[in-house]
Amino acid sequence: MSPIRPSFNKAALHYNAHAFLQDEVALRLSEKLNVIAINPEVVIDLGAGTGLLTSKLSQRLPHAQLVCVDFAQHSLQSNPAQLKVCADAYQLPFANKSVDFIASNLMMQWCPDLKALFDECHRVMKPGGLMLFSTFGPDTLKELKRSWSVVDSDPHVNTFIDMHDIGDQMLQSGFNSPIMEMEKLTLTYDKVIDLMRDLKGIGAQTVHNRSKSLTGKAKFKQMIEMYESYRNEGKLPATYEVIYGHAWKKTSSLGVVPVSNY
Ligand SMILES: C[S@@+](CC[C@H](N)C(=O)[O-])C[C@H]1O[C@@H](n2cnc3c(N)ncnc32)[C@H](O)[C@@H]1O
Repeated sequence: MSPIRPSFNKAALHYNAHAFLQDEVALRLSEKLNVIAINPEVVIDLGAGTGLLTSKLSQRLPHAQLVCVDFAQHSLQSNPAQLKVCADAYQLPFANKSVDFIASNLMMQWCPDLKALFDECHRVMKPGGLMLFSTFGPDTLKELKRSWSVVDSDPHVNTFIDMHDIGDQMLQSGFNSPIMEMEKLTLTYDKVIDLMRDLKGIGAQTVHNRSKSLTGKAKFKQMIEMYESYRNEGKLPATYEVIYGHAWKKTSSLGVVPVSNY
């Protein structure tokens, strides 16, 4: 079982109270549809969680059949959508070529095998279908990562994949000409502990490939001291590199695809 699934289940009840950034990115992601013309019948919100993107999608696409997929069943219980499926994104319980549009807000950074994920999405999508997502890039939480790196060599923050590599993976899975964008958003905190509380509150404290050894109080204190060097105008920044991507599944072997304007 994925080590992150229990974290998201545990966080489900408090997720929305800590997910300010996730909600903002969900809004920005949904606004990409202002310039992409689609009229889908079947839509998947992949890694839908408690439904921050779901609510925006259902407003924009009121006539579509919107199915929320997540492997954390407690998160899905908090999601107000009507159609919900508890499943792993790597093994979607949908027929080949059955989905018009897959949208995914900030799930992909939790999927270490992007090629397998894109292959699976590609399998269930109809020819001409659209995949639209957001995820995090390498500069995400750089202040926290650098502060920990002075203390020890354990991975305390996940490694995030560069947007060009994500685009390459999509191409390898058979998507047509992926379009990738990036923006940096900075949250500010009074104390490092407030940032840690938000990360824990959304279930994001689990790090891939990390042994279960506990981090001692002394090391934690040292990391906080290092983080203080980033204080600017009284506040501690936490940088997020947000990546947005979209790509179409080819409609035929000739690769004829709908036109997108962004
Ligand atoms: C940061 S939350 C984002 C939730 C929601 N999309 C939002 O914008 O608030 C990431 C979600 O992805 C889900 N997730 C991560 N890996 C998954 C996988 N392999 N299959 C299904 N869901 C997954 C988690 O359970 C969690 O609900």
